[in-house]
Amino acid sequence: MLVLESNRRHAVTFTLNGETVVADVEPRLLLTDCLRHQFGLTGVHVGCEHGVCGACTVRVNGRALRGCLLLTVQVEGQSVETVEHLCAVDGSLNDLQEAFRRHHALQCGFCTPGILLSLGQLLEEEGSVCEDRVRQVLAGHLCRCTGYQGIVAAAMEVALAIKTGD
Ligand code: FES
Ligand code: FES
Repeated sequence: MLVLESNRRHAVTFTLNGETVVADVEPRLLLTDCLRHQFGLTGVHVGCEHGVCGACTVRVNGRALRGCLLLTVQVEGQSVETVEHLCAVDGSLNDLQEAFRRHHALQCGFCTPGILLSLGQLLEEEGSVCEDRVRQVLAGHLCRCTGYQGIVAAAMEVALAIKTGD
């Protein structure tokens, strides 16, 4: 049987939520599809598939990136984190997730995984950020439900806790 070079499958080894995994993929398989269908990580949501809505956001080596704009083969040797990795082994939520719950920062939840990952990077890297900075990051995420106020309030609560050392 003739196998076109462009269709040849690849074994892609990477770290996924702290564990080494190998994905057997066609070269053009999007990272979002690989994570959802090969690894069952359905917290990686797929909205626009054009890099606009932010629903598919994952962290690659700590950077929040659009999974729908990445090929799986591009994460060879990299570390990928999805929303499923945010809570502790016992299921307890992280600080930002708890703040989302307190501030009613989600309704349908479609946008939530991507926003948690992007804001998580922001708070980890920049700590006690101002509200304008939170809104800058949120500009890369579309939420049709909340009006964003609760999301901003949740992020600012965590930013304040970082500032005061709580
Ligand atoms: Fe990737 Fe919308 S699904 S940005
Ligand atoms: Fe529904 Fe954001 S909570 S899209």
